[in-house]
Amino acid sequence: MIKAVAFDIYGTLIDTQGVLGQLTQLIGEKAVDVAKTWRQKQLEYSFRRGLMRDYCDFSVCTRQALIFACREQLIELDSADIQVLMDAYSELDAFADVSDALEEMVSSGLHLYAFSNGSKQAVERLLQHADVREFFTEVVSVESVRSFKPAPEVYYHLLNVCALPSAEVCLVSSNPFDVLGAMNSGLKCAWVNRDSAAQFDPWGIKPHVVLDGLTGACHKLQRLDV
Ligand code: 2OP
Repeated sequence: MIKAVAFDIYGTLIDTQGVLGQLTQLIGEKAVDVAKTWRQKQLEYSFRRGLMRDYCDFSVCTRQALIFACREQLIELDSADIQVLMDAYSELDAFADVSDALEEMVSSGLHLYAFSNGSKQAVERLLQHADVREFFTEVVSVESVRSFKPAPEVYYHLLNVCALPSAEVCLVSSNPFDVLGAMNSGLKCAWVNRDSAAQFDPWGIKPHVVLDGLTGACHKLQRLDV
C-alpha cells in the first residue's frame, strides 16, 4: 500500500514555461525555441555531470543551459538579463491542478515529499512562492548525495528520508527519465503526461499509472496495489 508520494518539481508541480513571458520580453519571437533548448540542455548537463561524478548546484546547469540556448540563436545576453531570467526561474507558479490535489492526498493520510535535482533552498523558495509548501513533510534534494536523477543513489536517498520500503513510495513525475530511474530503483511510479503530444521512452517498461494531470490522482494512486 502506498504510504508516501514523492513529487518531481520542475515540469510536474511547477510550470517551467512560466519563464516564457520574461524571455519573450528580452529576446522576442525566438523565446519559444530558446525555452525548449534551455530545458533540454539543463537536463543534459545534469546527466553529464552525474556520469562524470562532477556535481554542481542545479542552478549552474540552468544558467549554463540558458547561455547555450541563447547562443544557439546567435543571442548574447548580458549578466543582468541572465539574472532576470534566473530570478524568474526561481519563483515560477504551480500548475492549476496542484494545490487541490496535494490537499486531497494529505487529507487521505499520505505523506508528501518534494523530490528534485534543485537544491533544498531553491525548492523551498519555489514551493513557498507557489503557496504549496504546507502540504509537504519534507523537501528532498539530490544535493545530499551529490548526484542527479536518474542515478540510483538519489532514489535510495529519497527512500531513506521517507523511511519506507520502495513498494510503499510512489514517485509522481512528468519526466520519463525520472520515472524510468525511479522504477529502476524499485519505486512505484506515476507519469504525469500533461502534454498529450509527449511520448514515453520505448524501453519496454511502462509506468504503474499514467495521469493526464493531478486532478483525481489521489484515488488512482491509492488503487495502485489493488
Ligand atoms: C527535478 O525537479 C529536473 O524536473 C527535475 O528534479
